Amino acid sequence: MKKRSFSGIQPTGNIHIGNYLGAIKYWVAMQENYDNIFCIVDLHAITVPQDPQVLKAKTRELAGLLLASGIDQRRSILFVQSHVHEHAELAWILNCIIPMGWMQRMTQFKEKSAKQKQLVSVGLFDYPALMAADILLYRTEVVPVGEDQKQHVELTRDTAQRFNSLYGETFVLPEPLIPEIGARIMGLDDPTKKMSKSENAPNHAINLLDPPDVIRGKVMRATTDSLKEIRFDENRPGINNLLTIYQAFTGESRETIEARFAGKGYSDLKKSLAEVVIEGLRPVQERYRSLTADPAGIDAILEDGANRARPIARKMLGEVKARMGLG
Ligand code: AMP
Ligand code: TRP
Repeated sequence: MKKRSFSGIQPTGNIHIGNYLGAIKYWVAMQENYDNIFCIVDLHAITVPQDPQVLKAKTRELAGLLLASGIDQRRSILFVQSHVHEHAELAWILNCIIPMGWMQRMTQFKEKSAKQKQLVSVGLFDYPALMAADILLYRTEVVPVGEDQKQHVELTRDTAQRFNSLYGETFVLPEPLIPEIGARIMGLDDPTKKMSKSENAPNHAINLLDPPDVIRGKVMRATTDSLKEIRFDENRPGINNLLTIYQAFTGESRETIEARFAGKGYSDLKKSLAEVVIEGLRPVQERYRSLTADPAGIDAILEDGANRARPIARKMLGEVKARMGLG
């Protein structure tokens, strides 16, 4: 029996190489050894204001990008969170056993609420309860995510443990699975900040659908430092980030990469990196174009995914409700 893996990604903003290297690429590789469920988390997206038409379009775009990146709907379940209402229902139930103090410790809420200029919704605060529901509904054993999500997976684990001790063994305790390389790709314009979908600066992120010239422009303008040597060094975030991206796309060792650029300048590294990224994304972009020529085909894959996810979720929710004296 393969271990169950579950992960989610929000259909907002533009998917960038941080998402690809920190999450999607691993999800694709994991299809060999795990029993995978991938969820497009539109209910998480609405924790901040969304334009309905854009949300709908982004959901389909993200599905296309995941499939183009190599998520295989025959081996994995790919579905949209709001198509399986058990997620919202379990989130409510978990709300009622999660102490306020646990939620108040969540660093992502602190960051997001500080940035949010319009309304800060209760949903944004409660976001981790919905994420816990996503994970726990499927007896998930591993949760492949970037480092920023580790705290949420730990909260999920604590929640499962608390439920089990209150109502008897019900949930499996999940563990985060954080990739060693690419777990934290930084912004090209400011390598001290994580590359993020919600950052609007033009040179911040390389998006998965960026054409070659745009990629070249962004890489050439990336912020570095005034030193010379091309070396992996965490104290030099700009150059370290470019080398990390290079390493993640080529799969080469640090030594090989450092040897290649020994005695060369930053612009050599940047030129070479731009080509590595362009070539790395080319097959994804080609498959994306052919998949999205048939939007109904994508919708059918998502519908099939929801039909396969629903019975698993329904069974778990039934067990939870029975244990709690509901229904
Ligand atoms: P999000 O963009 O927050 O919806 O994240 C989707 C997935 O990509 C999650 O697993 C994140 O941890 C991962 N991720 C987001 N930004 C980065 C980044 N800059 N570097 C590595 N992984 C990231
Ligand atoms: N919160 C995650 C993010 O922003 C997305 C997410 C929602 C998720 N539910 C999940 C990830 C369940 C893993 C498992 O990246």
